Amino acid sequence: MSETVATAPAKLILAGEHAVLHGHPAIALPFPALLTRVTVAPGQDTLVSDRYLDRMVALDDMSPGPLAPLCEALREVRMWLGRMDRAWQPVDVAIHGDIPPGSGLGSSASVLVAAIRAAFAHHGSQPPVALVRQMATRAESLAHGTSSGLDPATVSAPGPIQFIRGHAPIDLRIGRPFTLVVADSGRAVATRDQVARVQARLDCDAAARLVLDRFEGLASRIGEALEYGELEALGLALDDTHEALVTLGASDDSLDGLVRVARAAGALGAKLSGAGGGGCVLALAPDGDGEAIAAAWRDLGCPHVWTQTYPEPA
Ligand code: MEV
Repeated sequence: MSETVATAPAKLILAGEHAVLHGHPAIALPFPALLTRVTVAPGQDTLVSDRYLDRMVALDDMSPGPLAPLCEALREVRMWLGRMDRAWQPVDVAIHGDIPPGSGLGSSASVLVAAIRAAFAHHGSQPPVALVRQMATRAESLAHGTSSGLDPATVSAPGPIQFIRGHAPIDLRIGRPFTLVVADSGRAVATRDQVARVQARLDCDAAARLVLDRFEGLASRIGEALEYGELEALGLALDDTHEALVTLGASDDSLDGLVRVARAAGALGAKLSGAGGGGCVLALAPDGDGEAIAAAWRDLGCPHVWTQTYPEPA
């Protein structure tokens, strides 16, 4: 049996990070500028990761560790194949990719989705998208302590989605092409720690608890602006979402500074994306031209800046 390759993109969140864990809607979209690539080949049931987790383990190794969620997901694939009367053939699984971990770009969900797809495909099976999403969400909960399922749903979707925890995602139309510029602040943050930090703020700050109720309206403004192609309205809603995330305690001075600089460079709107406390910010470029924003962020020392136009050119 020859080797099988599957890929999955990174993700960006336009609205609803953290709030989605509390049942509020989120809007997110795949970020195909960055990809995970997983290769499955006949072997000894080992997993090797060149950059995400930097080690090698046996699939049946039950000890906790950075590759434990991925082992768990692949053991579940093996169990499903057994239920479908397809014998699991021992494999080696190699993970490559360029999504910086801890950057709010969904690297763990991307690895899980690509690996689950590759393992099924290697055994001649194409699993339903919902099964891939659910397996990746269960495994991501091990990695992050909890997972709303937003990241796995986004990296396995064809385009923007509206997502509510526990429900199937809803695909959103793109009414007019738009360009996002994304900068990595260069500070990696574990989602698990950042979710705990925001939860601690919610536990003791009434203003933070009140702001949670605003995310429903923000998600519908962003979803509608995307679908109707109203880019100025989209930009304003992204700005308002960032301010709500500030009240939740998800941002910090450095991310707020990057957001301000993007707006001064002409962005229609800008916000942090992901768990915050470090990681990435995104900005909506005016007239599809993100160069001034990208240059301003590079001048501030951001180690990576990417530009992505939606819908992706065919
Ligand atoms: C992380 O990309 C988004 C969070 O809302 C966590 C989750 O939804 O699982 C912070």
